[in-house]
Amino acid sequence: MAEIFVAHVADLKDGDRRIVRAARHEIGVFRHAGAYYAYANMCAHLGGPACEGLLFPQVVDVIAEDRTYQGQVFDESRMHFVCPWHGWEYDMKTGVSAGDPKKRLRKYEVVERGGDVYVIE
Ligand code: FES
Repeated sequence: MAEIFVAHVADLKDGDRRIVRAARHEIGVFRHAGAYYAYANMCAHLGGPACEGLLFPQVVDVIAEDRTYQGQVFDESRMHFVCPWHGWEYDMKTGVSAGDPKKRLRKYEVVERGGDVYVIE
């Protein structure tokens, strides 16, 4: 296993991300809500740069007690990132596709040591 330098802790604030080069591919490293998440920057759809897309909370339908549709809201507790090629969404905490739970991005461990952040390949 190799450790790849990502950033100094002070330079990777909440909501930031970095794309780092590994031996044969790229890894996207996110800092979100005080935690780090890292995934292969290769979409499970057609290999697009999934970790480079927009970040936004999961959109959920609001259904009333009488089962009528009331619209949609953001679920701020579940952040997603969206592949810029065709819009596949991934859960920030798991890397699982929102549209197809059988698909996921390869996940990597992230460590913080001596004021620096590393991803373990
Ligand atoms: S390659 Fe990512 S959505 Fe198609």
